[in-house]
Amino acid sequence: MSKVSIVYWSGTGNTAAMAAAVAEGVKDGGAEAELLEVSAASADALKEVKVIALGCPSMGAEQLEESEMEPFMEELDGLISGKTVALFGSYGWGNQEWMRDWEDRIQADGATVLNGEGITVNGAPGEDTLEDCRNAGRGLAGIA
Ligand SMILES: Cc1cc2nc3c(=O)[nH]c(=O)nc-3n(C[C@H](O)[C@H](O)[C@H](O)COP(=O)(O)O)c2cc1C
Repeated sequence: MSKVSIVYWSGTGNTAAMAAAVAEGVKDGGAEAELLEVSAASADALKEVKVIALGCPSMGAEQLEESEMEPFMEELDGLISGKTVALFGSYGWGNQEWMRDWEDRIQADGATVLNGEGITVNGAPGEDTLEDCRNAGRGLAGIA
């Protein structure tokens, strides 16, 4: 069965809930979902998969979380050319600049952002956002 890796960082659970919904969608779409907190993930292992989902809330000042997600992303930058990547994450008070920057970074790496943009939500995801996440998972399963 083809596999989709979902790697995320979440401090208070909002992005984790989105990650779980992406995994549900992947399974619903008929692929295997590998759901990993970034602290347990290996960038090198992602070389083998065609499609990835990455989740991280807006942290710092409109940045990826700096101690685990940013270093992981720096490793991925050189490895993801040609892959399709779904992005998702929660934010608090900002203008979602962190997600626009992340989309641009993925494209500069030579990868494709699923649906052209990441899924964002203010605070905890409601049912609409969770369904968007499931749909992203189904979409990834279809191209895995
Ligand atoms: C240290 C810190 C920095 C943050 N910086 C931003 C920010 O720059 N912009 C923003 O919109 N939200 C910011 N937030 C809010 C989080 O993105 C928001 O609480 C989010 O829902 C957390 O998601 P999580 O539950 O997956 O950790 C920050 C939160 C913390 C704790």
